[in-house]
Amino acid sequence: MKPYRVAILGCRSRGSSAARVYHTHPRTELVGLCDLLEDRLNTLGDELSIKARFTDLDEMIRQTKPDIVAIPTAPALHAPLALRVLEHGVNIEVEKPMGMDLIETDAVMNKADEKGVQVAVHHQWRLSAWTQAINQVYQAGDIGELRYIYASGKGYYGGFGLMEIGTHLLTHMIKFGGHCQSVTAHATTRGHTITPQDVLPAPRGNGTIAGDRVTASLQFANGVTGTLLQHHFNKIELDAHVVELYGTEGRLMWHPQGAWKLPNPHVLPTNNLDQWQALTPIYPESFEQAVKSLPGNGKMNEGDYWFVDEYVRALDAGQEHECSGAEGRHVIEIIMGIFESAAYGTRVDLPQLNREHPLTRWRNEEGLGAPEPMPMADADWLVEESKRLGS
Ligand SMILES: NC(=O)c1ccc[n+]([C@@H]2O[C@H](COP(=O)([O-])OP(=O)(O)OC[C@H]3O[C@@H](n4cnc5c(N)ncnc54)[C@H](O)[C@@H]3O)[C@@H](O)[C@H]2O)c1
Repeated sequence: MKPYRVAILGCRSRGSSAARVYHTHPRTELVGLCDLLEDRLNTLGDELSIKARFTDLDEMIRQTKPDIVAIPTAPALHAPLALRVLEHGVNIEVEKPMGMDLIETDAVMNKADEKGVQVAVHHQWRLSAWTQAINQVYQAGDIGELRYIYASGKGYYGGFGLMEIGTHLLTHMIKFGGHCQSVTAHATTRGHTITPQDVLPAPRGNGTIAGDRVTASLQFANGVTGTLLQHHFNKIELDAHVVELYGTEGRLMWHPQGAWKLPNPHVLPTNNLDQWQALTPIYPESFEQAVKSLPGNGKMNEGDYWFVDEYVRALDAGQEHECSGAEGRHVIEIIMGIFESAAYGTRVDLPQLNREHPLTRWRNEEGLGAPEPMPMADADWLVEESKRLGS
């Protein structure tokens, strides 16, 4: 079958990872690269021997006529660039989070509907080898009926963690729990419940956030409940970064580098520590061959490969990508619902009718306007936040 033509918009780290997969997957062909910075464009172009290099995205699309454009750019550019690319009537994949609020994610979905094309959001962990392993056991019914899901980030400042890592965790949670119907959340900064003064621009341009510890209770379809923790730690704790599914007959634990099953829903450390069973990762069929055919020394990630594999399957079948724009938008609905619940102290039913960013609304209602700008880099941001809090 004819390969899908793919162009990459943004050639830094995520764009390079995406380009390697699209270049080596047997059903996709990399037809163009675009970056405003020519050195990045040339480094990636030389690595993969791609001659079609552009600094203007519209020109790239006009000349290369792609079926898919990947948009791995900075968070605040996801929706604006998605809208610009969608004008050309091509399918897109956009990095997570899909947008900074619901107004812009709605605009992306409306434009895609108008043009009759697909949006996929790069939530590759939802499809990664360890998730495939968990899913296989789950679908076989080995943990019985799902009743609860626990997920935790790895220690970023709470509200920032929600936008940066929570977006991945939530897409994982809704894969198993179904869509989220309501949210109740609490957010604190240095131990006090957040106030409108604690609303800040996130590090790395990740939108408007609040709270160094965010704890959310989520009600999913089919009676499943869940807890999401995004708590700031003194240092990043990779082992904290898990999603755990609690079933009536057992448990499944996912981590970016592992997956385990506990064939028993209730455990006491005294006698059950050795009952966790390691699962075997499941790789896409053509992955090994693709890795062998990759030129240069670049690395390729199996989660990204699964993501592209799924795009090929979806386009062939005329179906939505599993990590569709609709799923990506629902994740933003949950995140905005968490911020709203934490700010106003109420339960928030989803999908919310008011699509404005709830923290911006909260500040406006207090007559505060936009918060002061903050540094982009994590470390500088934390120094500035400590100064604001007087320590
Ligand atoms: N899915 C994941 O696991 C994961 C992991 C890390 C980062 N991310 C996301 O990936 C995104 C990209 O991160 P990154 O570190 O690769 O890149 P980055 O944001 O540092 O760089 C993006 C590149 O896009 C280019 N660019 C921006 N606007 C452009 C335009 N109009 N035309 C052409 N080029 C343009 C920039 O010059 C830059 O080289 C971030 O938004 C982040 O949220 C996702």
